[in-house]
Amino acid sequence: MGSKYILETKGLNVGYGPIHVIYDLDFKVPDGEVTIIVGPNGVGKTTLLKAIMGLATVYSGEVHFEGNNISNLPPYERTKLGIGYMPQTGNIFSNLSVDENLKMAAYTMDDPDVIQDKLEFVFNLFPRLKDYMPRAAGTLSGGERQMLAEGMVLMRDPKIMMVDEPTAGLMPKLVNDVMRQLKEMADETGLPIVLVEQRARRALAVGDYSYMMRGGRFTFEGSAPDLLNHPLLNEMYLGAVEVHDLEKVKE
Ligand SMILES: Nc1ncnc2c1ncn2[C@@H]1O[C@H](COP(=O)(O)OP(=O)(O)OP(=O)(O)O)[C@@H](O)[C@H]1O
Ligand SMILES: [Mg+2]
Repeated sequence: MGSKYILETKGLNVGYGPIHVIYDLDFKVPDGEVTIIVGPNGVGKTTLLKAIMGLATVYSGEVHFEGNNISNLPPYERTKLGIGYMPQTGNIFSNLSVDENLKMAAYTMDDPDVIQDKLEFVFNLFPRLKDYMPRAAGTLSGGERQMLAEGMVLMRDPKIMMVDEPTAGLMPKLVNDVMRQLKEMADETGLPIVLVEQRARRALAVGDYSYMMRGGRFTFEGSAPDLLNHPLLNEMYLGAVEVHDLEKVKE
């Protein structure tokens, strides 16, 4: 007990069958802060989050949450403990209404009053969702979908929230909105957040702690402002030219 880290991995090795993706990773998430993981495509960012949720094959190493070793728990038990996870894709049900999506996310809760409380909490954070309650989620804009997906995680009353590339596929002008909204949520709720982003500079601008990942290992760990000013960040941009790099160049 007494660790300032709410979530920690120790010597984590992860992969898919024989494909080794993550090597000896010690990942530490300070409580109450926004932790950013940046890195180019395919370096293992999503795989790390999946391993924390129990959704990837861990060869060796441990995952600790609130000081307890949870390495052997199935994914739903990890969710119940309070690890919220917004996956990179497939995070809403397009054919269901906004209202139905949020209630679906609360399917483990029996008490209608508790569900109503959680709904109010989510609508308070994202008032727009309340106006759109009867709309099919598939008709929402990209930014609104992200709000809904985050709202769905928040319905389960998490103690930490891990968000995987919430700005992927969004128009550039929406990217700042999504980041700002995440930051506001973090400030209002005090919830520790792990944010995985390829749009490194914008993510780091709202972060406290940070990691850079390359080839399944961390090449930087430290404060977000330190990484923002670190030469490694420029190297990342130069080394990996991606679709939205065109926009990064302008940042
Ligand atoms: N189900 C899978 N089976 C086999 N290999 C996989 C699987 N999922 C991911 N990989 C591989 O694992 C590596 C890491 O993938 P991962 O999704 O963790 O990358 P990422 O850092 O999240 O990338 P991106 O920024 O593009 O989302 C990649 O080489 C990927 O092809
Ligand atoms: Mg990913």
